[in-house]
Parts: sequence; structure tokens; C-alpha cells
Amino acid sequence: MRTVRAPATSANLGSGFDTFGVALGRPADVVRVERAECTTIEVTGAGAQYIPEDPDRNTVGAVAEALDAPAHIQIDKGVRPASGLGSSAASAAGAALALNDLYDRGLSRQELVGIAAEGEAVVAGIAHADNVAPALLGGFTIATADGIHSVPANIPLVVCLPEEPISTRDARRVVPQTATIEELVETVGNASTLTLGMCRSNPELVGRGMADEVVTPHRAALIDGYDDAVAAAEEAGAHGVTVSGSGPGVLAVCPADARRDVASAMVGAFGENGENARAYRTWVGSGAEIL
Ligand code: HSE
Repeated sequence: MRTVRAPATSANLGSGFDTFGVALGRPADVVRVERAECTTIEVTGAGAQYIPEDPDRNTVGAVAEALDAPAHIQIDKGVRPASGLGSSAASAAGAALALNDLYDRGLSRQELVGIAAEGEAVVAGIAHADNVAPALLGGFTIATADGIHSVPANIPLVVCLPEEPISTRDARRVVPQTATIEELVETVGNASTLTLGMCRSNPELVGRGMADEVVTPHRAALIDGYDDAVAAAEEAGAHGVTVSGSGPGVLAVCPADARRDVASAMVGAFGENGENARAYRTWVGSGAEIL
């Protein structure tokens, strides 16, 4: 038997659509695997009632098949599904790391990113790696067709989760297919600023670099109370605020000692819009670990 803790992640960070991601210090899923004749899945914890246990419809089923590693897989969800925190990616990354070890497959974490991304395709319809890469490698990750790069970063974060779920499939339908040259120039500038901020562990640069006028406004329009939550977080000291992954989670970068105020400002703003929300005070954390 193997047990793995696999972290929540936040993808895109505004300017890095389908490319950037960070591992979060918390929350996390715990995935337990045990050798079996055929794969079975059991899900408990946050939002478990919305997650299929059929291996053909669950990310971890695809991971077990890709690794030729049938197992009884127990997933204790700490990462709520359809919240924008890479819930399916946490489970896929956890299962990939656990099964690789249990069956002695000898794959590196980099190689497991590709396997776990295939699991993501079961849920999102497309094998994107911007959540599974940070879930496996930790820190700030850049996932491109050319490969995956990761750097550790010391950045305080708050994520606020409104209760109303948004599926990644639905949120991908609102993404525009074209951008102007002005938008391209602005996006390159912002993404570069953000990357430099991560490399220097500078929250102010990261916050500024999260600005994005191409994808984020379309995603934000799906989240009731988003503009008020952003304004409240900035008022409370956030350096930058954006949609976490495909939403509805909202990610804020702020000084470490402003996290409490930023968290309660965002929860309050959603509350005034009739949306129940909860917030995690967190940080850029490490990747999945075998317990
Ligand atoms: N990059 C993906 C998206 C992440 O925004 O659709 C989904 O969590």
C-alpha cells in the first residue's frame, strides 16, 4: 500500500493561460493505493458526491491504466471539485506518484506529468498539464509543448472559493480564439514580469504580472461578485488578484501579514453578493509527497 498527499494547484495566474501553475501549501488530497486484479475507486471528503467512482470516468482510472497498475484507489478529497484549485489534477498526480512507486515503474516526476495530464483529459476534454505539473513538481511551473520547468518560490497567497461550482469544460467554452497584437504584447510583458517575480520570490512583481485582459475577463463574467471581491482584496492590501484556473476560485497575491485581511475582505464581498465563500490563507508550496 502507498499513501500520497497531493496539493491543490492554481493554473493560469492570469497572464499564463494553459501554461503557468503553482502548487498551494494547502488544501490537498490524500490518495491511497493497494494492488488489485482490476481498478476500483472510492472517493470520500469534500464534494465526493460529485465525483464518479467509475474508473472510465475518473482521472485516476486513466492514470492506473496508463501505468498498467490496477489498484484499489481511495481518494480523500481536501480539494473541492469544480472550484478552480486543480481538484482532478491533485487526485491524478497523487495516483500517478503512488502507483509508480507501488509497481516500481521507475518513472521520474517529469514523466509522470504526462501520464497525469492524460487523466485530466477525462475531466476537461483536453490533456492540459498546468495543474498536474505543479501538483507533482511543486513551486511555480511553466508547462509548454517543449517541456516543463519549475522553480521554488516564496509567495504568500489567498484563495477564495465561492460555493457555486463551474466546470472546466464550461469555462473553456468562453475562452476567445483570437487576440490582437496589442493584447499579445501586453500579455508577454505581464507573463515575463510574473516569471521574474517568481524567480525572485517578489510578491509585488507576481501580483502585477497576473494582469490579463484576454482570457480572464471572460472567465470572471461567470463568477457572481468577482469584481467586488477583487476590489475588496486590493483594498485590503493584495498586490494582484485573478481567477484561479477555470474558476470560480479567486487567487490573490499579497504580503504575508495581509493574508487574514485579504481573506476576510473577499469572503465579505462575495457574501454581499449573496454568494457563500470560504478562503484559504496559503503559499506557493511543494509537490505531491509519499507519506
Ligand atoms: N488552464 C486550464 C483552464 C486550467 O483554464 O481551462 C483548468 O484548471
